[in-house]
Amino acid sequence: MRKLATVFAMAALGAGLLAAPAIGGEAAVSGQAVYQRWCVHCHSDGRGNPGTDSLRVKYGGKVSPVLLERTDLTPQAVAVFVRQGVLSMAPFRKTEISDVELTALAAYVASGGK
Ligand code: HEC
Repeated sequence: MRKLATVFAMAALGAGLLAAPAIGGEAAVSGQAVYQRWCVHCHSDGRGNPGTDSLRVKYGGKVSPVLLERTDLTPQAVAVFVRQGVLSMAPFRKTEISDVELTALAAYVASGGK
């Protein structure tokens, strides 16, 4: 009996975890997830990340070289860079990042990763 109760408790917990993203009306597409998949390896903090290194040179310390620490980027600007590409950052096609995903991503990046 006790074992059964444990199984039920675990099942309930599992269902709760699976349902969690839907609670609170969170968007179906997570800008953070898109960022983690396509951007983080070039734009995260530290040396050896091409985006961060390049932005360090470009701005010479006037703004943070780390994309998610920027406060001056609008979603529109982010979206243009993603679709057009710049230097060694290749443009992202709609088959890679859809328009819906781009909207979520651009809002996520422009708000400093929130
Ligand atoms: C292959 C590495 C790479 C990937 C992947 C990458 N970037 Fe970049 N990104 C760069 C480089 C290099 C630059 C150019 C920096 C410069 O102009 O000196 C850049 C520039 C940018 C800029 C312009 C910032 C500015 O002020 O000039 C934005 C915005 C940006 N990237 C966003 C993104 C987003 C969002 C993603 C994910 C969809 C992404 N990047 C993926 C390397 C990358």
